[in-house]
Amino acid sequence: MSMKVPFFNHKQSKESYQFPEEAAPEHIAIIMDGNGRWAQKRGLPRVAGHKEGISTVMKVVKAAVKLNVKALTLYTFSTENWKRPRPEVDFILKLPKEFLHLYLPELISNNVRIGAIGDMENLPAHTREAVQFAIDRTRNNDGLRLNFALNYGSRHELIKAMKEMYADINNEKLSLEELDEQHVSQYLYTAGMPEPDLLIRTGGEKRLSNFLLWQLAYTEFWFTDVLWPDFSEKEFLQALEEYRQRKRRYGGI
Ligand code: IPE
Ligand code: IPE
Ligand code: MG
Repeated sequence: MSMKVPFFNHKQSKESYQFPEEAAPEHIAIIMDGNGRWAQKRGLPRVAGHKEGISTVMKVVKAAVKLNVKALTLYTFSTENWKRPRPEVDFILKLPKEFLHLYLPELISNNVRIGAIGDMENLPAHTREAVQFAIDRTRNNDGLRLNFALNYGSRHELIKAMKEMYADINNEKLSLEELDEQHVSQYLYTAGMPEPDLLIRTGGEKRLSNFLLWQLAYTEFWFTDVLWPDFSEKEFLQALEEYRQRKRRYGGI
């Protein structure tokens, strides 16, 4: 059982920050933004920020594991990110492999189960294969579900779902009369996962950038100006603390 200690008592060391496990969101989604600006502020090429960002991923994963969070979905590469200069795209798409090379053993020993959402088929083979290897290798783990949104775009996901639903209606696998929210959810990449309770976006922008439009219908949002490479357990816990104060009404009273 975790100790209930107030948060921003700066006399405490960071290590002693605690959060009551039962108050943590079950599913947290994060838009990891601000890598390029982090690097540019330091006179470094933008890609240096992406590289730095992978250690932040691990910090957040560890914090989530400690709090027994069930799922963490990280926006890693969007369907719109192909608009960037090719060398930057290539660099970003090598990072999943690099991240897994560094951390897969640690993730396995922490019972983490890796997943992916997005149009994986149109990713370079080396990216797809590295992620698939990690998915297969962690398939039987039942701790934190760590989903990478890779080549993910919500509108793409919804169109794909609509086409599949249309085909299934034509094949009489799905009846138009019975089609409801649960059915639609099952046609999305996130089928079977709970909807995010909390969305965090770093880097100061206050928009969704085509992330989980359907799934975030009743999610609590938390924004910070902190750039992703600077994001740490401290801000993560701050987000959780604010989440804990929110009253989720789902349209009720
Ligand atoms: C987020 O950081 C990472 C990806 C989109 C892949 P950015 O690269 O968007 O960083 P900024 O927003 O330009 O600072
Ligand atoms: C969103 O960040 C995508 C990811 C974090 C992977 P962007 O930097 O691409 O978003 P915009 O362009 O500022 O909306
Ligand atoms: Mg950005």
